[in-house]
Amino acid sequence: MERFQFYCPTKLVFGEGSVSQLRDLILDEYKKILLHYGGGSIKKSGLYDEIKNILKDLKCEVYELSGVEPNPKLSLVYEGVKLAKENDIDLILAVGGGSVIDSAKAIGIGAKYEGDVWDFYTGKAEVKESLPVGVVLTFPATGSESSTGSVITNEEGSHKLSVNSNIMRPKFAIMDPLLTLTLPDKQTFAGITDILSHVFERYFTNTKNVDLTDHLCEATMKTVIKNAYILNKDPKNIAARAEIMISGTIAHNGILGIGREDDWASHVIAHELSAFYGTTHGRSLGIIFPAWMKYVYKENIDRFVQFATNVFDVSVVNKTPEEIALEGINSFIAFLKDIGVPTSFSDEGLPTDNFETMAEKAVNGGTLGRFKKLTKEDVINIYNLAK
Ligand code: NZQ
Ligand code: ZN
Repeated sequence: MERFQFYCPTKLVFGEGSVSQLRDLILDEYKKILLHYGGGSIKKSGLYDEIKNILKDLKCEVYELSGVEPNPKLSLVYEGVKLAKENDIDLILAVGGGSVIDSAKAIGIGAKYEGDVWDFYTGKAEVKESLPVGVVLTFPATGSESSTGSVITNEEGSHKLSVNSNIMRPKFAIMDPLLTLTLPDKQTFAGITDILSHVFERYFTNTKNVDLTDHLCEATMKTVIKNAYILNKDPKNIAARAEIMISGTIAHNGILGIGREDDWASHVIAHELSAFYGTTHGRSLGIIFPAWMKYVYKENIDRFVQFATNVFDVSVVNKTPEEIALEGINSFIAFLKDIGVPTSFSDEGLPTDNFETMAEKAVNGGTLGRFKKLTKEDVINIYNLAK
């Protein structure tokens, strides 16, 4: 195990009906609120009215910025930064999924910075301060409700980049599984794929003696897979939705990665699909992760044997380690197919003629990942495997 520091101050307020607790979280502390949300799902569900009523009762001054799109855009962040600066906002309240939360985080750091907020994403500036961000989560997937990260797309040049800092973890996240009932199945299962991917990025490591986090990762993966199958049959199952919701947070608040080297190549490789074609984040990971696994498993076959046996209960009797490892990867692919997530470019109807440029942008002059260091050529090979 490696040395580590772990700090996650986000207050999680979990459970059915927990939106009403927004009142106590805001009371006396925040007065000027920027309510940030997406394309209208919260209006349809009635959540918008519920939140507006709470804020009205508290006599908060409310400014609104809606229209966050999936794979949130820099241009809207600029609007938010301007609004926040001009009106002396003291809390950004993100109501939605990862895109809304990431956009809110970007506004938070932009509002406390004199320069261009994009500087944080290109590495030109380091995050030192942020306006507080609060979250009402409607979509369990990215873990952004308590993660350090924000991922923003700069429409000019299709750059999808991220920045990470403990300073960017939200102050609180309200997590009511009932809010996820209105999610289309396609989104539910894309979110589930994202959650699993966040565990994979940490689980597939060469760090030795990480038993505790290995087993926490395996428990999270098994929980997600089991409850995904329940939701596949019974999308309204609240107990299963609750398990998925808390798994999404655990998968990406960093606790599963303590003391171990993580990877993140697959996320960067998959981000190019969203940057080029607008592919839903979780679906892009369904396309990339199986190909990445097939490409790298020989680097540390024991890890993949452990994955096969401990997560998918693959039997080891009369099989070589390679056969066991490949059976584990194939079990994961079968799972994705069962829940209707694409596992190739062709499944998603995506073009396959931009691999060179996509790989170039992904590696950005360096290499990706740590389980196996990937060059541009490796990334092209992975895209080809995912065709
Ligand atoms: O915009 P509205 O109308 O609200 O609709 C949204 C959106 O169209 C809809 N939706 C959300 N909750 C709903 C709902 N529809 C009905 N009922 C509900 N309860 O779902 C659509 C997708 O939402 P979005 O927020 O885009 O999805 P997700 O949570 O998957 O976020 C994806 C973004 O997060 C980034 C991704 O790259 C992508 O840009 N990520 C952020 C991370 C982080 N900050 O730590 C880590 C992740 O790996 C990821 O990269
Ligand atoms: Zn992700």
